[in-house]
Amino acid sequence: MTNQQLIIVGFMGSGKTTVAREVARRLNRAVIDLDDFIRTSTGRSPAEIIQQDGEPGFREIETRLLDEALQQNSAAVIAAGGGAWTIPENRRLISKVGARTVWLDAPFELCWKRIQANEETRPLAPSIEATEQLYQNRRPVYELADMRIAIADGDSVVEVAARIVDLVTQSRNREP
Ligand code: S3P
Repeated sequence: MTNQQLIIVGFMGSGKTTVAREVARRLNRAVIDLDDFIRTSTGRSPAEIIQQDGEPGFREIETRLLDEALQQNSAAVIAAGGGAWTIPENRRLISKVGARTVWLDAPFELCWKRIQANEETRPLAPSIEATEQLYQNRRPVYELADMRIAIADGDSVVEVAARIVDLVTQSRNREP
């Protein structure tokens, strides 16, 4: 199957948005950033929604818009928000359309460094302790992704995207 969505998953700060853009460029596909799609569709950022409606309210919106994004473009590269893949209903929607998933497995220290450097508010990363706990809790779920890319501090976006394109191309070649 050549027209399959590719979903980039991973913790906050793992580089999903920038890597998804570069992968999409290389594969000549459209790119959808789920957090941006939420922003444009609702007029509020994920952080604002979490702060105003609580996390469960945010997850409902996220699932609805993930579904819409999956229906909208059958070949897009989609950067998911850090929690999207951890919700069973979202994993079901992703598997239903036959999309493939890549986990950007970045060390916690790197994610935390980027979370702190970024001016974007992340209500689910309030302190280093709580964030590391969340990171550890989520790892077994990220492991359910089809492919894993180990990210080290210093890896460039171009390098990571090239590795993903290689993986995607190889696994496609193995398909009957
Ligand atoms: C979240 C990550 C955020 C955003 C929301 C919730 C999470 O996206 O979707 O704040 O649960 O990890 P990024 O991973 O792009 O920061």
